[in-house]
Order: sequence, then C-alpha cells, then structure tokens
Amino acid sequence: MKESKEILTLYKKVSKNADVSHANTLKYKIKVLASSIKRRGVGATLKKIALYLSFYIRGVDLSSENLDKLTKVGEHKDRGTAYLQNSYEVIDEVLKEVEKLDKDVTLGFFLDYGSGKGLPMIIAQRHGFKKVIGVEFAKELCEVCIKNMEKMGIKNYEVLNMDAADYTPLKETTLIFLFNPFDEVVMKKVAKKISSQKNNFKRELYIIYLNPSCNFIFAEDKENFEFVKSLIFETGEIANIFKLKR
Ligand SMILES: C[S@@+](CC[C@H](N)C(=O)[O-])C[C@H]1O[C@@H](n2cnc3c(N)ncnc32)[C@H](O)[C@@H]1O
Repeated sequence: MKESKEILTLYKKVSKNADVSHANTLKYKIKVLASSIKRRGVGATLKKIALYLSFYIRGVDLSSENLDKLTKVGEHKDRGTAYLQNSYEVIDEVLKEVEKLDKDVTLGFFLDYGSGKGLPMIIAQRHGFKKVIGVEFAKELCEVCIKNMEKMGIKNYEVLNMDAADYTPLKETTLIFLFNPFDEVVMKKVAKKISSQKNNFKRELYIIYLNPSCNFIFAEDKENFEFVKSLIFETGEIANIFKLKR
C-alpha cells in the first residue's frame, strides 16, 4: 500500500450494473489470496482465512450481485453501482489508517452508504465501533445483510432499506464509508446531508471514499471537507480519506 498526499481522481466512471460474475469464481479468489500473502504476510492472511472460514461455516452470503432484478426504493434507482464486495484487506487497512489518524474514531458509529451485504459493517464491528449502520436501497441486499449480521452474532447494528440521498447521519457517527456506491447526482445530495450536520456531530467525522469516482464533490468543497490522504493498493484500488471541517 502506498500513500499519497495528492488527491487521486483516476476513477472517472461509475460502473453501473457491470458484469461482476468473475468475483465469484475460484480463479479470482485464488488470485486475491496470493496477493494477500504477498502484501500482508502469512499471519495476517491466516487471520483473514479464519474469518472467511467462519463466514463459510455460518453461511454468510457475500456473493456479488447485479442490481437489475432487485427491488430498489427511492428516486435514484438507476444511479447506483452493482453490489460488489470489496476485499477484506482493503477495508481492514483503510480502517487501521483512520484509527492511526484518530484513536477515538471507534468510540462512535460506523456508517456505510450503500451497504450491500455488509462486509464493511462486519469488519468495522471487529474494529470496535460502538454501532455499525448500513443504508441500502435494494430490499433483497438488506435482507441478506440482516441475516449476515445475525449469523455473525452482531447485535449493535442497524440496516436501513432506503435511498442514501434521504438519510441524515446520526450525531454519533465518526466514520462514513463509501465504496463507489452511486453517481454524482446522489453523491452531491449525500455530501450536502453530511455537511449540513457538521455542527451536530459529537466527534470528528472521517470519510473513506474507495474507488472515488465522484472525488471532486468532496475535494472541491473546501469549506466543508479537508482532504487527508490517499491510499493506493496493489490491487489498483484507491481510498481517499477526508475529514469534515467544523
Ligand atoms: C459497490 S457496492 C458496495 C457494497 C458495500 N459497501 C461493500 O463495500 O461491501 C454499492 C452498493 O450501493 C448500493 N446503492 C447504490 N445506490 C444506492 C442508493 N441511492 N441508496 C442506497 N444504496 C445504494 C448498491 O445496491 C450496492 O449494494
């Protein structure tokens, strides 16, 4: 993982309903495993394998899905990206990075806009966040996410079946997670909702924007958001970290 102080804007396109079937193949999973050993060593990889084994034993479903046939709510049904689970390492490393910036971040709530089946929520809960919240517009993904939380024995969670543009973050929120979930129309509304609450948040608020296709929305709003750093992963993924100005 490399770090950069420059804001990266390589992700120009939002891949709507891309073919995500490759992510469910054995070949792809082996590639991800080999890359994990190379980057994080055997110990960390074994820890990850143990987690995925527990997913398997408990029947946690994290398979990727197109949005075409799903039942979506709200006025932005065609502005979202497909459900594609991210890699454990990327989420884990980016959370660690924010904890290095602010050790109190886990004292608040973790919020995933476009939470899908909930992998980031599961990982954030293991990092010790007081509560993990997912906002997801596809009903079927919410149902799987709730089942996944229950299977993992997670109690302090909330899954809301709603359009992200309509959700107002709770004052306890300390970390917002965005894995390239929607296009700029929705992202502008979400960023506005976040900044409109800036005087209400109890603690500092950080934003992790992974594969940031609408990065400019946060980068150009210097009145409300401060760019902290970019992380570049060997898989080619980019995570930009922003902080809400108060
Ligand atoms: C790339 S996936 C990310 C899933 C999850 N955050 C993760 O990292 O595993 C994007 C998710 O955003 C959801 N989504 C897209 N537009 C949305 C909207 N307007 N409101 C709520 N969820 C939305 C999709 O259904 C999909 O589950």
